[in-house]
Amino acid sequence: MVSLVVAMGDNRVIGKDGWMPWNLPEDLKVFRKITIDQNIVMGRTTFEGMKKPLPRRHTYVVTRNEDYSYNHDDVTIVNDLAGLLTSYKDRKDVLYVTGGAQIYTEALPYVDEMWISLVDEHYNGDTFFPEFNPDDFIVVTKEKKEGFTLIHYRKKR
Ligand SMILES: NC(=O)c1ccc[n+]([C@@H]2O[C@H](COP(=O)([O-])OP(=O)(O)OC[C@H]3O[C@@H](n4cnc5c(N)ncnc54)[C@H](OP(=O)(O)O)[C@@H]3O)[C@@H](O)[C@H]2O)c1
Repeated sequence: MVSLVVAMGDNRVIGKDGWMPWNLPEDLKVFRKITIDQNIVMGRTTFEGMKKPLPRRHTYVVTRNEDYSYNHDDVTIVNDLAGLLTSYKDRKDVLYVTGGAQIYTEALPYVDEMWISLVDEHYNGDTFFPEFNPDDFIVVTKEKKEGFTLIHYRKKR
């Protein structure tokens, strides 16, 4: 199964100057709760924006650079994003797609569900979540949190 986790603003903004435009501790808690002890995949840019790999998660880092390496037990470098996503489609365990924009865009056709934190305030930025058709999804839950609304979407079959 392929899941996607993102925090986005009203204009689908997700990033600014290499990081998120907002500071929402509650959203970070939600992200941790969803992804803890799971497999996550992120683009090389997002990975390098973090100080170190996220603890208690196995991280697939996607790059086209076949020489890219990172020596850590919980990090796997992947060149074939489509192959990774396809391999999880038929698996019971979940691959969580955690950004950034390039990875979200390429993963969107594969997702079975999405966790979207819709940020209350307007923020400007330079990186955006791809457009998607809400009619392709059903809203499973919608929960107001501090500074955002957490929406759980499931893809229609
Ligand atoms: N709001 C949120 O929830 C959220 C979550 C995550 C990230 N973000 C933000 O998103 C921004 C970064 O997004 P981004 O789009 O610039 O970068 P990104 O998606 O994190 O990474 C892009 C890189 O991934 C690799 N890549 C992309 N497609 C690939 C493919 N098909 N096969 C192999 N490698 C592939 C390439 O690495 P190489 O150049 O090494 O080949 C590419 O340069 C930051 O501002 C970050 O803070 C926001």
